[in-house]
Amino acid sequence: MTPDDEATTMRDSLCATLTSDDVGRRVSVCGWVARRREHGEHLAFLDLRDYSGLLQAVIEGTLDVRPESVVRVTGTVAARPEGTRNDHLATGSIELTDCAVEVLSVAETPPFPLDERVEVDEALRLRWRFVDLRRGSLARNLRLRARVNRALREAMDAQGFCEVETPLLWAPTPEGAREFVVPSRLHPGDFYVLPQSPQIAKQLLMVGGMDRYYQIARCLRDEDLRADRQFEFTQLDLEASFVTQEDVMRFVSRAVLDAAEVATGVRPASIPTMTWAEARDRYGTDKPDLRFAMTLQDLSPVFATTSLRAFAAPTVKALRVPDGAALTRHRLDQLTEYAREIGAKGLAWFRITADGLDSPLARFLTEAESAAIAAVDGAVPGDLVLAVADEYDVACRVLGALRVTLGSPPVSEGPHRYLWVTEFPMFEGIDEDGNVMAAHHPFTMPHLDDLDVLESDPLRVRSQAYDLVLNGWELGSGSVRIHRADVQSRIFRALGISDDVAESRFGFLLGAFRYGAPPHAGFAFGIDRLVAIFAGEENIREVIAFPKTQSGTDLMTGAPKAITVRQLRELRLAPLVKG
Ligand code: AMO
Repeated sequence: MTPDDEATTMRDSLCATLTSDDVGRRVSVCGWVARRREHGEHLAFLDLRDYSGLLQAVIEGTLDVRPESVVRVTGTVAARPEGTRNDHLATGSIELTDCAVEVLSVAETPPFPLDERVEVDEALRLRWRFVDLRRGSLARNLRLRARVNRALREAMDAQGFCEVETPLLWAPTPEGAREFVVPSRLHPGDFYVLPQSPQIAKQLLMVGGMDRYYQIARCLRDEDLRADRQFEFTQLDLEASFVTQEDVMRFVSRAVLDAAEVATGVRPASIPTMTWAEARDRYGTDKPDLRFAMTLQDLSPVFATTSLRAFAAPTVKALRVPDGAALTRHRLDQLTEYAREIGAKGLAWFRITADGLDSPLARFLTEAESAAIAAVDGAVPGDLVLAVADEYDVACRVLGALRVTLGSPPVSEGPHRYLWVTEFPMFEGIDEDGNVMAAHHPFTMPHLDDLDVLESDPLRVRSQAYDLVLNGWELGSGSVRIHRADVQSRIFRALGISDDVAESRFGFLLGAFRYGAPPHAGFAFGIDRLVAIFAGEENIREVIAFPKTQSGTDLMTGAPKAITVRQLRELRLAPLVKG
């Protein structure tokens, strides 16, 4: 972590890289005053902090320096006297003596304590981010992030990829989120769009013969913020020509596993693959968290002729919650409410006891039905079984969400379980106008075996799209792209995008395809998410130097804020009255 040459004109060494081998050396170090302790009138101890850690300096005489002031201390490295060593500190066996202290800048009292063990309100940490950075964990995360970026770059370079920067002032891209727009001064009334991803640019690079492109790319999306979402985020974005899905998965796996090895010290095993259909059936989601079992069980055949009205549905699925019989009635009511909120008609629960099922529904079940529920996923007394009877999609989705709610360990816990999910459907439902909606983006190549049902049964069409999942988080997605104008037109038609609209939005890409487009495919994954999981953080804000709050503001700079009337005039924008 320390550079080859840590010396500068102002210092000889970093605080925490000095060791007992340096005893007797006269050195200068620079840093912040972490703590000052007076011993009588003529002796003080300074804990000096830089990014490497702490070093104690013994100051003779009086010294008036406030905590967090920046100082340069020149002193002689000495072994600490017997009995005063501190085993908790890397430099706990040495100290600087015979010191001269130069105050480089005086600090006011910091807005919150810098002790990492003290819990500080996040709004304060965001408002005073530069102070928060000195507390350690954020700085450690940013350094981890830098190591991950370096490993990713090295992996991509080693695989023959060329790093290309693509524009931030750009035109609409097809990722489906709301876009940030930038008014043009030279072309009043016209706007640039900040890219949601370099999707179109990278496809154009393939048409241009770049063959293998990558970028650590900033992406911007004006969407609601959550723990794993910011307006601006960073992707490892890549695209390659003359490749199949398997090639792309191999490139990405190498990069991610190299980064994991650098971040955790352990190289994960190769990444398994599961189809989207299997993921939904067994885990009720397209991003299964494989750190825990709890797979969904299908009880439909058992209930096919049930007389229990609540269970008379196309699909009955069940989930065993280990030790869940201890959940209170209040908690079960909450879970039922949650299931309703996300689309279920209800939620049935059954406590497994030594004497059979304990549930309001138990007495309405036949013996075979009771036995099937009691046997779900090898249930034993003390477990709970939850069941949802509904359309297949709903039953999977609701139990999948309950599985995560009841089973998911914290981000910081458990192994890192990667998973490739393949064969996503091409479309994910029908909009109000009767058009199918793209599940990925409209340049995704359909599964060639399904092309003949594209018009007759579009929801059955699988795509050549694939996701990478880590511990239940969607890390990234990608696809083989359409490079043939005829297939692209059929997809646009299915999506209800007219030729005119396609031409005006993506004309430059479609035009480029007429001049020789290689077959190509690509992928992008979120570096913020990957580093957050490596760092054991629940929120990607913890791995971003200057993130936005949940409501999209920057508490430090005050952005977004008004600009001057003059700036507005230059842009030919009328001032708005704030609502
Ligand atoms: P997609 O839209 O799935 O694909 O994005 C890829 C990955 O980017 C990350 N991500 C985000 N991270 C933080 N905050 C956000 N608001 C946010 N939005 C997305 C996620 C996500 O999996 N162009 C395609 C990729 C391709 O087909 O090559 C794309 O951007 O980790």
